[in-house]
Amino acid sequence: MDSSHYLEQYIASLDMVPLALRELLNIESVPCDIYALKNGLFELILIQESSIDKRLLGQILNNSNGALYTLKNEHKKIIKKQQELLRISTRSLSMGNTIENTKKQMNFLTLNMYYLYLDALDNDTLNLQLQSAHTLSKVLMEMMHTHKELYEDYIGQKHHYILAQPVLSSLFLLGLLKNSKTYIDQDIEAFFLASLLKDVGMSFIPTNKFEKNNLTDSDKKQFLRHPQLSIKILNGRTPLRPHHLKIIEHHHAFSDLRSELSQEMQIRLNPSVNVMLGFETLTTTIMDIIAAMLSDRPYRSASTLLESLEFVKKIMFDQFPTEFKLIVQFFKKYYA
Ligand SMILES: [Fe+2]
Repeated sequence: MDSSHYLEQYIASLDMVPLALRELLNIESVPCDIYALKNGLFELILIQESSIDKRLLGQILNNSNGALYTLKNEHKKIIKKQQELLRISTRSLSMGNTIENTKKQMNFLTLNMYYLYLDALDNDTLNLQLQSAHTLSKVLMEMMHTHKELYEDYIGQKHHYILAQPVLSSLFLLGLLKNSKTYIDQDIEAFFLASLLKDVGMSFIPTNKFEKNNLTDSDKKQFLRHPQLSIKILNGRTPLRPHHLKIIEHHHAFSDLRSELSQEMQIRLNPSVNVMLGFETLTTTIMDIIAAMLSDRPYRSASTLLESLEFVKKIMFDQFPTEFKLIVQFFKKYYA
């Protein structure tokens, strides 16, 4: 490689952002040039306006190992296209086959969550997420009997766990609260939203380090701060009330990481272990733990629903036996 080519590649690497293959799903043509990394060099594989379909995407995946890139400034064209698909999906959720529409909506919404994590301060992306989640929660409450099918389809999509965990835990929470028959739909919707957005603070934390199982004290501390960061990001920008923000603040009350920290470190964190947990905070936390256990991590494989329930029994049964029974009853009724 001559020096001018080397320089060209070096400059290109500064301007490139990675692109998930699923960002190219459901669009008919690419709005910008797409590159793959081959032998350490960027190679143009799709020119702007090229048509794409599933067959072509399959070929691209085989040839690129899924490592795709586009220019930083051009990425927003793809985001715009995908966000338009979410808008259309939100408008037409109840038209035609609602179950299939809802499966798609959950995927579009997950992709938009990725965009929100890329730029958590973007109001358009946040507002789109709020509107889409509002419509989705209404449909989910009307279709309790389809939740298992939706869950299985969603798990099969293999979204990254950082994005999948809040979606799944919110699906479980909505079902559990609806099944408890103690809340009006409007309240359930707000708890669903709080649960969905509770991890947006992760967007400020480099997630690659959480792919490991041997976190340092400082990593753990940083991770345990994400609820506070979520609140800072969301405060005044959503219809969530102080009560919902409190739920977000304490959604890791049972975190293993907290108990592993040295005493001195624990004192410096908000002492949420000592907070009296209300039913909504407790269930948000427990649904989050179950959703986490159901997905693979780079350092462990996924648990079954039964194994997850056995685990949460260990951590909550002594203190919250009635709540635990409600959770088991819910999963037996809708997910068995
Ligand atoms: Fe979290």
